[in-house]
Amino acid sequence: MALPPIIAEKTAFQHALLDWFRVHQRPLPWRESPSLYKTVVSELMLQQTQVKTVLPYFARWLEAFPDFTALATASESRVLKQWEGLGYYSRARNLHKLAQAVAAMPAPPSTPAGWKELPGIGPYTAAAITSIAFNTPAAVVDGNVVRVLTRLTADATPFRDSAGAVKTLTPLADALINPSSPGDHNQAMMELGATVCHRQNPLCTICPVLAFCSAQKNGDPESFPRLAPKAIERRAVTRVWCMREGKLLLHRTAAGSRRLANQHELPTDEHLGLDASALDGAPLLAKKKRAITRFSITESIHAVPPPRGRLAEGLVWVAMEDLDDITLSGPHRRWVGELLKKSAR
Ligand code: ADE
Repeated sequence: MALPPIIAEKTAFQHALLDWFRVHQRPLPWRESPSLYKTVVSELMLQQTQVKTVLPYFARWLEAFPDFTALATASESRVLKQWEGLGYYSRARNLHKLAQAVAAMPAPPSTPAGWKELPGIGPYTAAAITSIAFNTPAAVVDGNVVRVLTRLTADATPFRDSAGAVKTLTPLADALINPSSPGDHNQAMMELGATVCHRQNPLCTICPVLAFCSAQKNGDPESFPRLAPKAIERRAVTRVWCMREGKLLLHRTAAGSRRLANQHELPTDEHLGLDASALDGAPLLAKKKRAITRFSITESIHAVPPPRGRLAEGLVWVAMEDLDDITLSGPHRRWVGELLKKSAR
């Protein structure tokens, strides 16, 4: 494939981008007196999660576990409790295992290949960590960078999904990286996508690299990237609200589960072995909609009487005063709070 014209101007492009970043970057806490540990924690938290959501978690995390050793020696339940509400909990368990592996090494790895050996680190995170902490010239390509690159080059390739776009655009990202400041270059590309090159209504008038942008010259930056719309699948889940003697019935996911290990949620009808007829007259207390990856999930919460006999596997009664101490997945903590308030009225 012919190289896009921006390659011929790459030094001027790198300077314009970096000059802008050094003045306009957001003052994010992992950028203040940066360290390898802060970089690793922030990059894992930022996988699939927006900066503004991560900020309070990052601050609390650094207080609870200030370095790799503190994290390595913490219990898994404390680690998961600190992550409560951020979602994708395998990241927390991976970060914990990663800290234990790093604490046991004479020195942390400094190459992308070395980092990719550690739990939870794919090519994207390995490039982010090593470019920021060790100045390795490895390009980071996330959704923001895909948008910036396809607009700079007016690349109208129809991509099936964002993984395909990342794969196709990585060679261009690598060719554009600034070898003297790869970490700042990568962060500047992400920052430009997050704060200027918005998906809709990009702020082209203040863009530091407008002069290099082919999409702007063609007049329709918003049409890039050309990504196929995600196929959304709808799902319905029935959950139960069941209280007895000041205790709430919850379901705790098994410790070995990949998703939600040791976390509590409101039980589903299946956890209680209830069929549709058992729920027939059960009052509907709330209907909640949420989106997880490509699923649009509607959860209906019904009040049911306490089950008779022995509780099925995973079901536990939790006293009201203990609710704050257990790990509840994010939306469930919110729903339980709302329903307790409602029942107190
Ligand atoms: N997203 C992932 N890593 C980031 C970083 N270092 N700065 C801003 N956004 C990011």
